[in-house]
Amino acid sequence: MKPREILPGVLAVGAQDFDRRLFDALIPLPDGTSYNSYLVRGRARTALIDTVEPAMLHVLKANLEGVDRIDYLISNHTEQDHSGSIPWVLERFPGVELLASEPAKTMLADHLGLPPERIRTVADGEAVDLGGRTLRFIYTPWVHWPETMSTYLEEDRVLFSCDWFGAHVASTELFVDGTHCVEDEAKRYYAEIMMPFRKIIQKNLEKIRDLEIRMIAPSHGQIYRDPQAILCAYRDWTDDKPHNSVVIPWVSMHGSTALMVERLTAALAARGVAVFPFNMSVADIGQLAMGLVDAATLIVACPTVHVGPHPAALGAVVLANALRPKVRFASIVGTYGWAGKMVETVKGAMPNLKVEFLNPVIAKGMPKAADFEAIDRLAEAVAAKHAEIGLPEGCPLSRSAG
Ligand code: FEO
Repeated sequence: MKPREILPGVLAVGAQDFDRRLFDALIPLPDGTSYNSYLVRGRARTALIDTVEPAMLHVLKANLEGVDRIDYLISNHTEQDHSGSIPWVLERFPGVELLASEPAKTMLADHLGLPPERIRTVADGEAVDLGGRTLRFIYTPWVHWPETMSTYLEEDRVLFSCDWFGAHVASTELFVDGTHCVEDEAKRYYAEIMMPFRKIIQKNLEKIRDLEIRMIAPSHGQIYRDPQAILCAYRDWTDDKPHNSVVIPWVSMHGSTALMVERLTAALAARGVAVFPFNMSVADIGQLAMGLVDAATLIVACPTVHVGPHPAALGAVVLANALRPKVRFASIVGTYGWAGKMVETVKGAMPNLKVEFLNPVIAKGMPKAADFEAIDRLAEAVAAKHAEIGLPEGCPLSRSAG
């Protein structure tokens, strides 16, 4: 994509990566991604905010052809999808001053091998004057690394937020349009990248509460011309109160656990609880993560394999433990043949989750009538716990097991 103007004198010069299908060798990218870089021109000076993934450097190079001078290169975040092309920019524009937060200095040296003397650290609240345009730096730590900051273009009220408010989506459309008030992609991105830092994101949201923001320009995905929807979504996603929903990552080898999940899903739905079952043999882990953003309860369902839980289900537990969702309750349903330590292993794999465990339901072989009755009691207990913490009954979001 050629440079595109988001405002007079402010250009998007980054790259759309339509073909990328995996991030961090883990996260599915069904819609590709983008590495947004912004050129901001003042009357006297020019700044470049963030760069691009090195694999897409040719796009940045082409978009900066004809630019004879960049005074400031601002690194909001040192992860290589944004910082990886900094060495080229330093070489191409030898007079450019590289600006980054204090914690970013050593990280840029560690990740890119940059000499520390090439990096000028800026303080929280410090600004640079481009001539009629002011770029102010706002430390926004842990969105999602310790050094992350946002850059605010004061006169035009644009927040360049890097990963924060971003979405893994490649698009020829520069702006989020009115039909996508809160993009699914933004929720997926929050779930996979930001959720472990929910508490500190609450503080960062508070920090920018009084900032007048006309536009949010993240470094992945499209630009928000009306930022209220994404700000509201972030407040909801980071809020301590979960939704009246249950996430069930499940695996079944011979159909027994599947029968239990089917019964549990129906029993919860009949009690007004939204259910999001994910068959971990085929599930998109991004969708599982999105379900965990809101869920009040996590129920793991799996058969016993070699004494322990099925590895695919255990993988879901490990992921949930890493993402630290705001779930309040947890339980386990599943099966065994002759012996097992599935319950202990699953429980032990989620130390980060501050949950109350509800009685598990473990069937020997094919579930019998008594097991199904126990599942109904588990559903009843979940609904009662949700009611106890004030979650509303009913939710239109429930979907069938997949
Ligand atoms: Fe988009 Fe944390 O890098």
